[in-house]
Amino acid sequence: MKIPPVKGTRDFYPAQMARRNGIIDGWKKVSIRNGFEEYDGPIFEYLTMYQIKSGQEIVEQLFSLQDRGGRELAIRPEITPTLARMVNQTINSLPRPIKWFAVPRLCRAERPQKGRLREFFQWNIDIIGENLGQADAEVIFTALDYLRMVGLTSKDIQAKISSRKLLAAVLTDIGIPPEKLDSLYAVLDKKAKLPAEAFEAVLAEQVPDRNQAKKVLDFMALDAIGQVREVAGTNETIMDAVRDVEKIFAMLEWMGVGEYCRFDPSVVRGLAYYTGMVFEVHDIAGELRAICGGGRYDNLLRDFGGPPIPATGMGMGDVVLEILLQERGLLEKQAIKPPLEYFVTFAEQLLGSDMYRLAAAIRSRGHSANFSYRQGGLSKQLKDATAQGARKCIIIGQEYVERRQLVIKDMATGVQESIDVEQFLSRLSS
Ligand code: HAM
Repeated sequence: MKIPPVKGTRDFYPAQMARRNGIIDGWKKVSIRNGFEEYDGPIFEYLTMYQIKSGQEIVEQLFSLQDRGGRELAIRPEITPTLARMVNQTINSLPRPIKWFAVPRLCRAERPQKGRLREFFQWNIDIIGENLGQADAEVIFTALDYLRMVGLTSKDIQAKISSRKLLAAVLTDIGIPPEKLDSLYAVLDKKAKLPAEAFEAVLAEQVPDRNQAKKVLDFMALDAIGQVREVAGTNETIMDAVRDVEKIFAMLEWMGVGEYCRFDPSVVRGLAYYTGMVFEVHDIAGELRAICGGGRYDNLLRDFGGPPIPATGMGMGDVVLEILLQERGLLEKQAIKPPLEYFVTFAEQLLGSDMYRLAAAIRSRGHSANFSYRQGGLSKQLKDATAQGARKCIIIGQEYVERRQLVIKDMATGVQESIDVEQFLSRLSS
């Protein structure tokens, strides 16, 4: 019986694994150079953790299970609730701001489609304990720092930035009651994903007053923060939120990524816990789903029973990123394939045991080495070395019997050198 892989999952053969390792390596490198420390949590948590504050969409996509003790659990669809739980447990002993990153494997029971799978990897960076715009700007900068490092330019990608605080102030000014805001956010988040007419129809269900609905649409069509200033008039709550957004843009400009960033009030985000800045990075052509998304979530730690500590962060999945890198011809450059350094061969039958000894000695000095399992002639062994992409081939032959000299052949140039075995091994050690 042949069993196929589960829908929405991926097998990582060595070629795919090399790319995945390259991407994750880049995420880690950029996290560290931006001052973040790595953490991780368990792959499953109590089901209720995701029901508290992540929002309806993610709850519907949970892979849930019951353990033998009857406990309701779920495989993590995101790591932010775990982060909130972990920080709450140790908050008093952590120096602030807490700047942490993680690369969890996540599962969501979504309908698999381009850019969306049921299992994926997601780079997370979060800054906890800081309510200033500098932290928001640093999250966006770090995401862009990675995307620039792998070769994407402002012609390929754009960070669309908005603010839930600003949106709340504007919607309240329009006359939307505060208790309706959360359900309205979920609808507004669909704007870019639905045709205009379909979006207006779902908006009308939430906001039946046509005049109010028009004002919401007008606001979402603005494309510069300065335009919000013009329509805000004397509303101080709106102006306060506008100033917050302007500070974030100023810092991004100073840090040299201004050309990547644009104000876009139609970015709302699907998750329920965001309270301030929200952003997504998209491909410029707008053909793919978001490459990454995040924002400020100042109430999540408190909602998880901890102190009211502000936080901001983002998540970037590997699936959309890979599609975009592939399209731009940048994916293969990411692949990390450690080369095979040595292939050990023997030319004289009686020297077979020396081949094993030498290969083990090379490996124990931290270098990679392989050899043929089959006791074939030298030319067959050299063929194996080529097939395995070995950089250098070591031949144990007549010179070894006479003077303990090895022949080392550079497989790219064909150049050969003779070297005493002890000298060779001490060169490896140093
Ligand atoms: P999210 O918007 O749900 O946010 O996911 C962030 C990113 O993860 C997406 O932009 C996408 O790249 C990737 N992603 C999400 N779902 C899938 C999927 N089914 N298949 C492939 N990739 C996917 C969060 O998860 C927040 N917890 C991020 C965050 C961290 N906010 C603050 N801190």
